[in-house]
Amino acid sequence: MKELLEKIRAAALAEISDAAADVEQTRVRFLGKKGELTTVLRGMGALSPEDRPAMGQLANEVRTAIENAIAERMARQKERALAHRLEKEKLDVTMPGTPVRMGHQHPLTRVRREMEDVFIGMGFSIAEGPEVEYDYYNFQALNIPENHPARDTQDTFYISDKILLRSQTSPVQVRVMEKQKPPIRIISPGRVYRSDALDATHSPLFQQMEGLVVDKGITMSDLKGTLETFAKQMFGEETKIRFRPHHFPFTEPSAEVDVSCFACGGKGCRVCKGEGWIEILGAGMVHPFVLSNCGIDPEVYSGFAFGMGIERVAMKHYGIDDIRLFYENDERFLGQF
Ligand code: PHE
Repeated sequence: MKELLEKIRAAALAEISDAAADVEQTRVRFLGKKGELTTVLRGMGALSPEDRPAMGQLANEVRTAIENAIAERMARQKERALAHRLEKEKLDVTMPGTPVRMGHQHPLTRVRREMEDVFIGMGFSIAEGPEVEYDYYNFQALNIPENHPARDTQDTFYISDKILLRSQTSPVQVRVMEKQKPPIRIISPGRVYRSDALDATHSPLFQQMEGLVVDKGITMSDLKGTLETFAKQMFGEETKIRFRPHHFPFTEPSAEVDVSCFACGGKGCRVCKGEGWIEILGAGMVHPFVLSNCGIDPEVYSGFAFGMGIERVAMKHYGIDDIRLFYENDERFLGQF
């Protein structure tokens, strides 16, 4: 029996130290209910009373040795698994992070807000109108009847005979005057559409900002003062403005307004194409026909209006020479602002 126990010990310990062996199987094989050592222990009863204590002691020793060896190996296995996991999940907190890319406002939005701020500072509020507009508001109410030549220069996209994409922000003037009685002091920024071919200076979609002031005693000098204040705040204190006679059906008198070139101060350069001046807007005194059309008595009230292209202001502001850049969504362009 002694040899048998020693054989079991040697076999068990050899198996446990074999890295490829499954120790759970070893445990069952030797220590399990039907295990080799268990079977030997069960046979202990058959021994003579003199042999029993010594054999019993040896059997216990063998069991403890096997149990300890198994426990040790399991502990080592656990340690190794943990070390492996720690190695695998290693995290270097000093490593630089993946940068989160922050977006920012589109240059047109930025310029539009800057323009809005200047006018809000002068007491204007912002009015909005639909981009899909009635022919009536876009043309007729603005003194541009059917077949008027002014329709040619503002040819737009028609939804139906009577509904179109607005070609200017001026219809907002009419909508505001219909609802609100003077004093009126609004600006109206927004998208407008024209069926122009896309090139460096034309886009079938662009943005305008309309201005309208109606009250008792409003004169052309109020218009001049307002635009001069705007130009100085937008383009710098040195900026001068210049009115050139023009014609718009809905203002009388009308003017095109230039600002002195902020790149050269008026001497003439590449930005202003040698002119010294840059045209930025159309303006004039609201035509009496338009006022009375909206239920405002032109004998009592007068007003001025102006309209300017936001892209144009932004292009001059940032020195951009192609309007298409605003709409191409190219990060190499947008990232510069
Ligand atoms: N709506 C005109 C245009 O688009 C500009 C303008 C607005 C002129 C208001 C006079 C008064 O050309």
